[in-house]
This record gives sequence, C-alpha cells and structure tokens, in this order.
Amino acid sequence: SQAEPAPLPEDRFLTIAHRGASAYRPEHTLPAYILADEMGADYIELDLRMTKDGRLAVIHDQELQRITGGSGKVSDMSMDELKKVSAGVAFNEENPELAQASYEQLTIPELRDVLMRFGTSVNYYIELKDPPEGAGMEQAVISELEQYGITESSGQRQLPPVILQSFNKESLMRLHEMRPDIPLIQLYSFKENADLSSEELEQLRGYASGIGIPADSAHAGFIEKVKGRELDVHVFTVNEEQDIRRLIAIGADGVFTDRPDVSRRISLE
Ligand code: G3P
Ligand code: CA
Repeated sequence: SQAEPAPLPEDRFLTIAHRGASAYRPEHTLPAYILADEMGADYIELDLRMTKDGRLAVIHDQELQRITGGSGKVSDMSMDELKKVSAGVAFNEENPELAQASYEQLTIPELRDVLMRFGTSVNYYIELKDPPEGAGMEQAVISELEQYGITESSGQRQLPPVILQSFNKESLMRLHEMRPDIPLIQLYSFKENADLSSEELEQLRGYASGIGIPADSAHAGFIEKVKGRELDVHVFTVNEEQDIRRLIAIGADGVFTDRPDVSRRISLE
C-alpha cells in the first residue's frame, strides 16, 4: 500500500499499561485492565496468541507454565480448553501481599472478552505474538476490532483507539495493507544500544507509525534520529520512576509499564 501510516499524537507522553496494571493484579486479566483504566492509562496493552482452533488468546507466553502452573502450549490447545485453567493461582503464590482468593477463578481471556468488557471506553495497544504464516491472524484481529466497533474513529478522541504492534515485520505489513488508518509499531529487541540505518528507517516509514524498543537500549541520539524521521518511540518495560523520568528527558513518546499510576503521575506534572 502507498497509504501513509497513521500519525500518532504529538506532545503527549503515553502511558501504556503493560499486560494491564500487571504490577498489582494478575497480568492480562480483566481486573488488571480495570485497574489500569482506573489509574488513567492511555492504553491497555494485550499480547495475543492464536489457539489451535484459531481464536485469539490474551497471553504473553506460548508455554502455560508461568501463568497457570500447568504444562502445554497455547498453540496446542483450543480456546475452550485454555479457559479451564486459572490465570491467577501463580500470581497469588508469587505475590502473597497482593494475593486475593478471587483471583483463583480468573481465566485467560480471549480478545473479544476484553473488547466486550471495555468497548470504546479505553484505547487498545495490541501485540500479535508469533503470528503464524498463512494462519490469518491479522485478518482475525482486524475482524474482531471491526465487529466491536473499536476501529471507528471519533472526532472527540484525542488518541487513536487502537495501536497494533509486533516484532514480525511481515505481519505488520499485512496489517498495513488491510487497514492503513491503524497506527502500527514495529518492535525491536536490541540487546545494547539501539540502532537503525537510514535505509531501515525509510522502509519503516512505509508501514509503521513508530517503534518499540527495550529500555536498556534507549539513548538520546537514537531517539532523536528516529523522531527526525517522524516515527515515534515507545519503550518497554519501565516501572521505576527514575527510569521514566530519564526516558521523558531523552525524548521518548511513551512507556509500556506495569505501574501505570506511576507513569501517569509523572506525565501530568
Ligand atoms: O509489546 C512491547 C513489550 O510488551 C514487548 O515485550 O515480551 O512484554 O511482550 P513483551
Ligand atoms: Ca507485549
């Protein structure tokens, strides 16, 4: 597509609630998203994986072990099977001071559960994790967003209602073909200092509105270079006040954070 990628808002430091307010409640569950919304997050962040039966599970890991204590892979299970395991037991065990008995009943949501719960009352920042080639994950995500009216632009909105993100460039390019109006973020996993060539930045501008990079890789020269090409820079995953302040100072446009209350407070100063 020759369509220009959608612009992101200027002069607003975005608080992206990473897996919800996941420092305080079990990640990727409705209570974590409700708290993120209450804390004033600009976006709730969801990771999506495709189940064996082609549904969209809201979960970070391919392996079930860390979140559920059980074994197996998301891609080997149906959504109905996934919904039988607890998404809160492991959180309670790891966070006794935050544990609540009710979390044991929490289940792994699918995308439509979150869209139904929040509708257009929040903004969504959705990651396609390991999108399988040829499985239609991009179309499935777009269809669900359209079905729930999430992609409709409203003149009253200050922010785009949906941002889509992935480490997978081909997947983002497919999304851009389908809906060039939805802003896309290309994720990178730089180990040390982030760097992209002028050619890479130019190619990015053909489909993406910005990039997402790890906090340890972020530095002022790089952010200046990327923003000079009119691409935004969002940084993951940043939970400490001093780190958020450093990123604001070097020009980052937002952070993925497990503590959206902290980021919001700083950004409103
Ligand atoms: O999506 C940005 C950031 O969340 C990437 O890290 O592993 O938490 O999905 P991860
Ligand atoms: Ca993510």
